[in-house]
Amino acid sequence: MTQKRHIYLETYGCQMNVADSEVVLRVMHDAGYDRTDEMVKADVIFVNTCAVRENAEERIYGRLGAFRNRKKTKPGVVVGVLGCMAERLRKDLMESESHVDLVVGPDEYRRLPQLVENAFAGEKGIAVRLSRVENYDDIVPLRTDGISAWVSVMRGCDKFCTFCVVPFTRGRERSRTLTGVVKEVSELSFRGFKEVTLLGQNVNSYRDGDNDFANLLASVARIDSFMRVRFTTSHPQDMSDKLVHTIAEYPNICNYIHLPVQSGSDRILQLMNRTYDLGHYLKLVERIKRAIPGVSLSTDIISGFPTETEDDHRMTLDLLRRVEYDGAFTFKYSPRENTKAWHMGDDIPDEVKAERLNEIIDLQREISLRKNRELVGKTVEVLIEDESKKSPKDFCGRTDTNKMVVFSKNGSCVGQYVHVNIEKANSATLFGNEISHN
Ligand code: 5AD
Ligand code: SF4
Repeated sequence: MTQKRHIYLETYGCQMNVADSEVVLRVMHDAGYDRTDEMVKADVIFVNTCAVRENAEERIYGRLGAFRNRKKTKPGVVVGVLGCMAERLRKDLMESESHVDLVVGPDEYRRLPQLVENAFAGEKGIAVRLSRVENYDDIVPLRTDGISAWVSVMRGCDKFCTFCVVPFTRGRERSRTLTGVVKEVSELSFRGFKEVTLLGQNVNSYRDGDNDFANLLASVARIDSFMRVRFTTSHPQDMSDKLVHTIAEYPNICNYIHLPVQSGSDRILQLMNRTYDLGHYLKLVERIKRAIPGVSLSTDIISGFPTETEDDHRMTLDLLRRVEYDGAFTFKYSPRENTKAWHMGDDIPDEVKAERLNEIIDLQREISLRKNRELVGKTVEVLIEDESKKSPKDFCGRTDTNKMVVFSKNGSCVGQYVHVNIEKANSATLFGNEISHN
């Protein structure tokens, strides 16, 4: 019997990449490769990359250094760079990193087994064609059993925000079939998963015939009422009232919406080509809060976009105060070649970007803390996800509104829903005691 080959895969970047890596593992598994978590055992080393900001790419270059050392020890090993950085840098990557055998973009993963075979025979390969149709609808991602699963429902992005490389690295928007997604989630429910997150760069532009994202969400929610349904990411321009009401209607669709705003200044939003203004965004937030009482909101903010003034920055801080997000993901602007913003220059000095970013982070921390403290003394329902990393006597899990809760064990187990009485809170986590499980 020939010995099985092993694949080692590291994933960087967004949840789409996590989902894509599971597609890669399936494709390679079906071609006879087992996954290993130990690089030293691997015949094939893949890194699924992110190109959204420069620091993501720098980190990956660091990892490529580690793979180069591995290849010195074991010259037969095949090294492949997959994903957005592969798409963005293409030939440059292969030329500057001589130990890289394969450069494969996000729409070419079906070809991986053949490309790897060729690489074993000494032939390097670049496959970076973007497709208008590839959605891997028929490929069942290879997942380890667990509580939560990521399910990609659409790929690509047609928005062309001026700062963003995604439309160039992931190509045009295309959706999976509703039946394909429903089948996949039904199987996950059968296998014991308790939560799914439907993924897309802009889930609101999902479409399969007459079905839009609200229809898809409702169909998924109906599969298993004990399964939590989450989704990300929503674009504020495309979020329909129908979708908001669907979230309100189904108890197992979580009351949590990630709604990236990017900036609180209309002038900057226009330069970013976000296609909405603050008035539109705030009205949407109002409608959401009215339709879904207790809803939790989070956002993405970029600090130091070209020409951003102190006034623009103040408007972003004001917006945070007005919306009172539960959390925010914050980034320093990072110029990306080929995007429109690249040509606007990068005129905000790094220290100013960092200063503004810190102000945003500090303010958001205050708001998150205040909101979390409002829950002290209350009872929340938590889906237990795991043992707490800090203490084996405690569990951790999340509320429907996506708040992390750490609490002492009381006879229940991972995957159960329990009621927890909240006793204290910081800006990131709630702490409490389990009072019952159902
Ligand atoms: N610089 C900084 N942040 C960026 N993002 C996307 N592109 C850039 C960039 N060039 C952020 C946006 C987006 C999130 C996923 O990453 O806030 O919503
Ligand atoms: Fe990038 Fe904008 Fe598309 Fe999000 S919506 S992936 S920020 S282009």
